[in-house]
Amino acid sequence: MSVSTIVIVGAGQAGASAILELRANKYEGKIILVGDENHLPYERPPLSKDVILKPSETKIEILSAEKLADLGVEVITGNGVEQINAEQHNIVLKDGTVVAYDKLLLATGGAARRLPELDALGKHVYTLRNLEDSQALVPVLQPGKRIILVGGGVIGLELASSARYKECQVTVLEQGPMVMGRSSPSILSEFLLAQHRARGIDVRLSTKLQKAELRGEEVVITLDSGEALVADAVIYGIGIVPNAQLAVAAGLDVDCAVKVNENCQTSNPDIYAAGDVATQLREDGQYRRIETWENANNQAGVFARHVMGVEQPKANPAWFWTDQLDINFQFVGDMAAAEWHVRGEMDVAQGSAASFVLFGVTDGVIVAGITVNSAKDMRHLKKMVAKAAAFEVEKHLDLGLDLRKAA
Ligand code: FAD
Ligand code: APR
Repeated sequence: MSVSTIVIVGAGQAGASAILELRANKYEGKIILVGDENHLPYERPPLSKDVILKPSETKIEILSAEKLADLGVEVITGNGVEQINAEQHNIVLKDGTVVAYDKLLLATGGAARRLPELDALGKHVYTLRNLEDSQALVPVLQPGKRIILVGGGVIGLELASSARYKECQVTVLEQGPMVMGRSSPSILSEFLLAQHRARGIDVRLSTKLQKAELRGEEVVITLDSGEALVADAVIYGIGIVPNAQLAVAAGLDVDCAVKVNENCQTSNPDIYAAGDVATQLREDGQYRRIETWENANNQAGVFARHVMGVEQPKANPAWFWTDQLDINFQFVGDMAAAEWHVRGEMDVAQGSAASFVLFGVTDGVIVAGITVNSAKDMRHLKKMVAKAAAFEVEKHLDLGLDLRKAA
């Protein structure tokens, strides 16, 4: 079947990237982008950082109206997709419009996982996923305000950092035994924890909420220890839930996220999925979902090349970053590496001047790397992980030797 109309559901990172990749791979047919937000595609990483700290100077748009017009894209915003009729090859929008497709890309991302006991308070409780959520935090994070962050993951810690810049009093409540437990090895998690505490952020680990109540304009959180904490606002980031409802209703294979093969195809060959909504079959035979900016872009590329019959390049090891407390952290490869080795000085007392590299090693092979304020070394680490280089203490930990030469 020739492909003349591609519909992309979700005007976010993967959706925008898919447009660029389709055109870069010489697709000349119709592209229809359908989004439920009232915005053209924008970047989410700045939402927890610069959009709060420097709202007027921060640009987050990925594709302008002009660029979309140049790319020949028909854009529908503020009109979410309500249904996929897979047999008929069409989708139905909120306002009842029916749009036909030859190939469909689901790029609907994820939503903040809800905590009903906090939502029930009705006010002074926030989550963060989209631009409006971020803008709503600007008046909340004012000097002296008592802010409780529930969840010590990426969102909780990035917001803790932004709130501290705004001179708030910040407490982080993490139910697990470490911060950033989903995405970071314990060696780095301990460093992060110490950094946050050193900046005056009260991080509580292995801590559960027992009760949340409003007392006038204050929120009172009672912990499982019985201690009561009082806040002006509570923000929670306890993970995301993939927006897979459309796929479930359309009868696609879904296991929390939409299951896709190595080409990002779902169980229906004319429907693909990419980004936070997708869980992909990996080389080890397991399905895994990766919630990162880079993965959204990569999977959009895989989708576009598959539709165009273009050979897929060898996948690079997974990479992501987080910015906290004026420190840039970048991660590549398998964070479950058996051992970690430090190149440089892992010194909390250096604050945001700290700079070092971690090598993740399994069975003598470099399988992962982390740079802390050392972004220039990341491309060398990426190379070493990609070629499964053997780890050598003398070569890799000697600060006198340039990592470029070791890669
Ligand atoms: P999204 O970008 O969320 O786009 C999905 C779009 O689909 C949304 O606009 C959504 O409203 C829309 N949609 C949903 N349902 C429908 C429907 N039925 N009809 C039409 N449209 C629909 N990653 C990093 O690697 N580093 C970082 O530092 C980092 N920081 C982050 C900070 C924040 C605050 C957030 C929220 C995310 C961050 N991420 C970071 C993660 C990264 O932004 C995501 O992995 C990426 O945006 C996923 O892209 P996506 O296209 O799958 O989803
Ligand atoms: N109370 C306290 N902590 C909780 C609770 C709870 N009830 N439930 C979960 N947590 C903790 C988890 O143990 C975990 O450490 O919340 C943290 C959530 O961390 P992430 O999984 O990193 O999710 P989040 O920080 O919400 O980030 C969501 O945004 O920045 C992006 O890429 C990131 O896709 C991710 C998304």
